[in-house]
Amino acid sequence: MGYYHSHLRLFGLVVLVAVVSTSAKNLPIISFDDGYNKLFGDDNLMILRDGKSVHLTLNERTGSGFVSQDLYIHGFFSASIKLPTDYTAGIVVAFYMSNADMFPKNHDEIDFEFLGNIRGKEWRVQTNVYGNGSTDTGREERYNLWFDPSEDYHQYSILWTDSYIIFYVDNIPIRVVKKSEAMGGDYPSKPMSLYATIWDGSDWATNGGKYRVNYKYAPFKAEFSDLVLHGCAVDPIEQVSKKCDKTQGSEYIPTGVTRLQRMRMESFRKRQMTYSYCYDRIRYKVAPPECVINPQEAERLRVFDPVTFGHGHHRQRKHHRRSSSRASLADTTSV
Ligand SMILES: *[C@@H]1O[C@H](CO)[C@@H](O)[C@H](O)[C@H]1NC(C)=O
Repeated sequence: MGYYHSHLRLFGLVVLVAVVSTSAKNLPIISFDDGYNKLFGDDNLMILRDGKSVHLTLNERTGSGFVSQDLYIHGFFSASIKLPTDYTAGIVVAFYMSNADMFPKNHDEIDFEFLGNIRGKEWRVQTNVYGNGSTDTGREERYNLWFDPSEDYHQYSILWTDSYIIFYVDNIPIRVVKKSEAMGGDYPSKPMSLYATIWDGSDWATNGGKYRVNYKYAPFKAEFSDLVLHGCAVDPIEQVSKKCDKTQGSEYIPTGVTRLQRMRMESFRKRQMTYSYCYDRIRYKVAPPECVINPQEAERLRVFDPVTFGHGHHRQRKHHRRSSSRASLADTTSV
């Protein structure tokens, strides 16, 4: 794949990217038409000639998005994504699972959210999980990446089983959410669709709405490739299995965290994590029950100002078709 090799300057990067592209290629990649439908945005969603790459654009008129044709109960969901370049303040690119359309009052959700920034400042990544309508308890974490995600494609993956959720960036696990007694029904447990969207999050995305989308720099383009939908598609009402993906490449689907990956994850979290809900005393006088408080981590995260992002503003819902309950995130975080 040419795009992996087009912008390389450093030898170290070549090695890293080679590993990434190999692992993405081994995965059971599907074409857009085999797994997805357009969600919104008309011409702002463009399927490339190979049928396997999709461009989602945001301009003055609209954002855009796509959604999986099926709902899945558990599985491995992945895409290589290249984010918009240059001035991207206020822009949100989301790669996530949800069933808010089906269960508006008690939906589940697993999120990767990419938050644009002013020029010269990097994109940030946020992960979050909701279960059974637990929108009063946001479980956000935020990270800086160790690369510029607008320069090349990188692989972002969600592994969801009945006992844990793992978020991966380029095959490195960055977060594990374990199902536990403490989390109870807040652990996602109903079939979900996979979504990818780009939208105007001016009121929310960059320093809590301080920097809005500047359409002078439009169109903003997010590129998606190496689409993997590997799980059991189910009928959401009957919850009976329709079909489980047993395609070639299944053996490359991760099933957990190896020892080496665990070390990498710990190193990533030490260096790159800038926010964890577990340490946000403004939102939670008492940390949610699954939180294990690490004093060193608390000390480290204290230097990042939790109020600089995502607090105190209503989340704009226009055009991005997130769940209605998402708007309440801003309410709860402003307390
Ligand atoms: C989910 O929430 C509903 C109420 O909205 C409740 O009746 C049900 O027991 C909850 N399920 C779980 C697994 O906690």
